[in-house]
Amino acid sequence: MKERPIVSEQEMERQRAFMQSVRERPERPRSYHIVSMGCQMNERDSESVAGMLQAMGMRPEPVRERADLILYNTCCVRENAENKALGNVIWLKELKKDKPELMICVGGCMTQERGMAAAMKAKYPFIDLIYGTHNLYRLPEYIYRVLTERRPVVEVLDIDGEVVEGMPEARRNRFNAFVNIMYGCDNFCTYCIVPYVRGRERSRQPEAVLEECRRLRDEGAQEIMLLGQNVNSYRGGGAAFAELLYRVDGLGIPRIRFMTSHPKDLSDELIAAYGELKHLMPQLHLPVQSGSDEILARMNRCYTREHYLDLVKRLRAVVPEIGLTSDIIVGFPGETLEQFEETMRLVREVRFDAAYTFIYSPRKGTRAAEYPDDTPYEVKSERIQRLIELQQSISLEVLQAQVGRRERVLVEAVSTRDEGSVGGKTPRGHMVNFPGDASLIGRFIDLEITSAGRNTLRGRQIKTEE
Ligand code: 5AD
Ligand code: SF4
Repeated sequence: MKERPIVSEQEMERQRAFMQSVRERPERPRSYHIVSMGCQMNERDSESVAGMLQAMGMRPEPVRERADLILYNTCCVRENAENKALGNVIWLKELKKDKPELMICVGGCMTQERGMAAAMKAKYPFIDLIYGTHNLYRLPEYIYRVLTERRPVVEVLDIDGEVVEGMPEARRNRFNAFVNIMYGCDNFCTYCIVPYVRGRERSRQPEAVLEECRRLRDEGAQEIMLLGQNVNSYRGGGAAFAELLYRVDGLGIPRIRFMTSHPKDLSDELIAAYGELKHLMPQLHLPVQSGSDEILARMNRCYTREHYLDLVKRLRAVVPEIGLTSDIIVGFPGETLEQFEETMRLVREVRFDAAYTFIYSPRKGTRAAEYPDDTPYEVKSERIQRLIELQQSISLEVLQAQVGRRERVLVEAVSTRDEGSVGGKTPRGHMVNFPGDASLIGRFIDLEITSAGRNTLRGRQIKTEE
């Protein structure tokens, strides 16, 4: 069952009433600061949180220490993400000593882990609200309860929920938007905690997705990113992902991207879509995780190295210049040197534009956490270092090959590294910095690429497209 009931309009009405009630309370927080950790799915959730907080009469406060309400949207995909979240929360205790009225809320994937909310409640009684991933839409109710009951509220639901439509939202910007198409994951890769904290796969109805995209387009969106843990298994109202893409493409939004894809579900139709769709950008994030068939099998990835390489070949036959990126795990339990070398060989063969590399991190409750693991951490560290160096040299070569080309970028932000510069992405997904100011943000600019760094390109403006 991939479609789930939608949270009723009646329930959303109830939450809107709570927003109103919070707004009317004189002691309510006046400002908020959200710390969003982890992936794009969390970032999108944070936009809903921001929308709800604003509807409760709060304004964003960019300086965390000055906010009346601080909310952590946590991640738990690897242990260091969790440690970072917990470290932050402990620090808030000090802040609250000076500012007793500060409201502290913690939600997201970490609080959804089995036993975590109860443990946090016992250990960190200064947290005012702990909620999970399945009941985000009830934030107004919970904040109302914190204000009126004057004691911590802890609510994490075991059952993964329904699809929620119609939550308020405060988007990061108008020109570049995230759109959820599905929630949850059913793949149970043996290392991964996501299926346990995000629940079963459930797809939004295509009409709901299209309606949202249409609205975003009318509000000025130039690029949208369709989001899901595994967009390739999307099935909404009988439509497969490729079908949905064709329909989104028809809306005329200049740039469409999506993530994340699972190699086992990447369909022929989707590969063909790269050759046909006008607005689909030549870019794909396709996590391979390992280059060894034995490790892939033990990860429960349900594809082989050969299958992955074949996908790459077929994608490149359709779009020779496709920008491929990947995720790779090093030091999966029992990974031998030879198995790691197979990953190195695969990376040399595919030549990704970029790869996100991680040392395996055991997550309680997952199958791999029970696998024997006799590789010392130092060995894993050395391996990942070699992999990073290899990928960096490939990325640099890929970027160098762009020098001299003309590319159109969508300007995203003022560059934090290069003073007096802004940065925008090419269709293939490469970031290019060039001289300019904030007035260019959200606009398409034509550039000539002048040089390549390790992660980014530099360019100069040749003409501006209005
Ligand atoms: N340890 C290390 N990396 C992990 N990932 C997911 N779970 C783990 C884990 N337990 C990585 C995968 C995934 C990315 C989002 O995070 O590579 O694609
Ligand atoms: Fe985790 Fe695998 Fe699902 Fe991705 S596909 S979220 S790695 S279980």
